Formats: sequence, structure tokens, C-alpha cells
Amino acid sequence: MRILVCKNYEEMSKKAAQMILSQVTLKPNSVLGLATGSTPIGMYKNLVELYNNKLVDFSDVVTFNLDEYYQLPITNDQSYHYFMHDNLFNHINIKPENIHVPNGMTDSVEAECIAYEQAINEADGIDIQVLGIGTNAHIGFNEPTISFERGTHLVDLTDSTIQANARFFDSIEDVPKKAVTMGTGSIFKARKIMLLACGEGKAEAIYNTVHGKITPEVPASILQFHHDIVLILDEAAASKLD
Ligand code: F6R
Repeated sequence: MRILVCKNYEEMSKKAAQMILSQVTLKPNSVLGLATGSTPIGMYKNLVELYNNKLVDFSDVVTFNLDEYYQLPITNDQSYHYFMHDNLFNHINIKPENIHVPNGMTDSVEAECIAYEQAINEADGIDIQVLGIGTNAHIGFNEPTISFERGTHLVDLTDSTIQANARFFDSIEDVPKKAVTMGTGSIFKARKIMLLACGEGKAEAIYNTVHGKITPEVPASILQFHHDIVLILDEAAASKLD
């Protein structure tokens, strides 16, 4: 695990965007695994700026998002489909057919999950996976549980995740209780992983991820086994590491 500690959120976001820039420069048809949430917003802003300054071209890039709420229409501004278009896709030259976000509105969630995994395989896998981390160390929406899930699946969100995400909704009752998420196995197959975390609230999850026992009760702990992973943290998220 490489760990990069940045002064603050701005520096973390710049570094993360530079990693994506290098990836797409070296391989213009890169397959990017993307995350939502508040953490990567600064990285997306930087990428849009790099695109506006003609420093990066997304025309051959393919993306797969980690997750989507279950049964939340894509027109809802809290859906991850909406988030990604609002923060990134609407501002760059990515081809709509190259964008993949799990379809949380499906009637047949099992078939959707199988098709999502197949699409990742057909794209020859993910070159670089961007991750945030939950305060309970979830990655994607792989919540603490008794076993690691391999592929894309439907998951019940834990109370702590529902509470953490309530800040984006009018009331806690409006937060979806389920989501479709890539599995820990799907995430782990990415050739490179870049995990971003900022703020003191993530410090314990980061400590457990880096130094803790590898257990599905700390989903991100499995990343200790990945051969090419970088954690880009602000000082607060790194504060328990030494
Ligand atoms: C989002 C995702 C989640 C978030 C995590 C942290 O696609 O997969 O695992 O990365 O919940 O969220 P923020 O960044 O809002 O603290």
C-alpha cells in the first residue's frame, strides 16, 4: 500500500485528478472505475478543468460506477446516475455509450448484476478504480458483514450508512435502504486502486484499513492484499496512522 498524505482536500483532489490524467494520457481507452459521494467531487472539478484546458481527452474512455441506489429514479438529483452527469459526464467529451452506472430501477436485479459484471469483463476489466470509504470502512456499498461478496449484488444499507447519507436528502426516511453495488471481488480485480479519504471522521476507518485485521467486518481491509493501491489522504484522515 502506498500512502500519500496531502495538506488538505484541495491538494488531495489535485493529486487524484493527476493520477487519472496520467492514466488516460498513457492509455486513452482506459477503463475507469468511479465513485460518488462528497470525497471525489474536488477530483471531478479538477478533471473538468483539465479537460477545459485541453489537457485530457475522454473520447475513448470507458467508465463503470461502483454503485447506485435501488429504486431511486435517475431523474432524482440524489441518484448516482444524476450525480455523475452533474459533476463530470455533462462537462467532458465522454461518449454516452461508454458510461456505465448500475441500473437501480431494474425489475430484475439479479440479471442486472450479472450483466454489469459481464460488461466489465467485456471491457477487459478496470484499469484504475477510484474509491471513497465509509466511516464503517465500506467500499462501494459493501457494508461490514460476515463474508466478502464477489460480484455486483443488491445490498441492504446499514443504519450508519443511511444516517451518513441522510445529509443529502430532505429527511432520513427518504434515504433508500438498498443499493446495487459492485462486490469487493469486482473492486479487487481492478489493475490499480486509488482510495481517497478526507476528514477526521475517516481516520479510524483508514487506520483499520491499513493496520487492522483483514476481515469482511472492515470491508476495506482486504485492500491490504492488492498489489497496486495508493491511498490519497488529507492530514485529518491520516491522523491515526502514526
Ligand atoms: C460511493 C461509494 C461510497 C462512498 C463512501 C464515502 O459511490 O461507493 O462507498 O465512497 O460512502 O462517501 P463520502 O465521500 O460522501 O464520505
